[in-house]
Amino acid sequence: MDRSEHFPIGASITVDQLTDSPYDALASLRASEPVSWVPATNAWFVTRRDLAIEAMKDAERFTVDDERFTTAQVLGTSMLSLDGPEHERHRRAFTAPFRPKFVREELQSRIAARAERLMAQTMAGKRELRTGLAGPLAVETILDVLGLDDVDSADVLTWYGAFGDAIVALTVGDDVPPEVHATLAQLYSYVGDAMGSDDAGLITHLVSDEILTAEEIPAAVAVVMFGAIETSEGMTANAFWHLLTHPEQWNRLRSDRSLIAAAIDESLRLEPAAAWIDRYTTTEVELGGTTIPQGALVTINLLAANRDPEVFERPDEFDIDRPNLAQHVTFVQGPHACIGLHVARAETHAALTAALDWEAANDTRLELDRSSSSAPQGLIFRKPSAVVSTPRL
Ligand code: HEM
Repeated sequence: MDRSEHFPIGASITVDQLTDSPYDALASLRASEPVSWVPATNAWFVTRRDLAIEAMKDAERFTVDDERFTTAQVLGTSMLSLDGPEHERHRRAFTAPFRPKFVREELQSRIAARAERLMAQTMAGKRELRTGLAGPLAVETILDVLGLDDVDSADVLTWYGAFGDAIVALTVGDDVPPEVHATLAQLYSYVGDAMGSDDAGLITHLVSDEILTAEEIPAAVAVVMFGAIETSEGMTANAFWHLLTHPEQWNRLRSDRSLIAAAIDESLRLEPAAAWIDRYTTTEVELGGTTIPQGALVTINLLAANRDPEVFERPDEFDIDRPNLAQHVTFVQGPHACIGLHVARAETHAALTAALDWEAANDTRLELDRSSSSAPQGLIFRKPSAVVSTPRL
């Protein structure tokens, strides 16, 4: 069967379109082919919010447990690549440091101090908020959560870069280059050493809890570490982008800090830092009137679901007064819902607060330097390449 005949919009979508400005293409898909075959990514796309939720909650028919899943090929088995009771066991090992109470009572004040320091450094330097504030805040915070205080942020970025290179290599059908394996071996050797210590924060707890075996811990730590880096950086940078391109709404945050939480959710809705999640069908599946064959790759598109006009009026507008802005699915529903969401929210909240405090302390207002900033972009991980802010003269 020529699927393109049945799914003409899906057939016409290109990777460049999905990377740069996917909104119109995804809106057409959602309206006419809410479950569609997209040859450009060799996957079935789900773009309507109700269907996206149905699929993400149904791990029996839409699983992550498939040998094609590249993260597991690179890092080994982890909660990201398991379903059912084994998935529940892997997740349970990490419950404690991600509970809202722990984040509020143990982490929040350190995250705030970190954001304040990074904001001051950023404004004394290139004034670029993604690489100066959002990125380092994400790396330093996850090292804090994991209790890996003596690890250098630069090493983490090298490990993360090697992970990304390996995923790209596998995705395009190449072998993972040996030097990438060697770099990731450094991370695993580091975690192995920490597992032998009585004083290595969360890793010491993971060993003593015995929920995970010694063989399972390194991949589990790597998945949590890597899951926190680009996503949180994008989340914070996107929030700055949306607020600085809507100065009237940024201005309202100046006088009412209680609006920060809504602003964060509205930014998460409009531009989820991770635009989609992948699943594999365990059987032939009927979804929204379309039949997907067994063993197919299904892309649940969070960006499209979050702009579903059936749920959100004027879905493409940034509006912090939107009554239902928290109904986005950026952190996913169902068994694989993001475990780091409270930590990530605390980071973005601290970053925006630090920027507002910096304005107040310097008696100025930040404005976006449009000539050196850019809108969020990216195929899966979406963020601005730069958000440069200048104090108003
Ligand atoms: C401290 C920061 C973060 C940490 C430690 C973290 C960690 C994780 C982990 C371990 C999972 C896997 C859960 C499972 O499979 O049961 C996950 C899922 C997920 N996270 Fe996060 N995350 C963080 C921030 C973010 C941010 C900022 C976003 C997006 C804005 C995000 C989006 C997601 C999504 C979409 C999933 C679902 C993946 C899937 O179902 O395939 N995460 N996160």
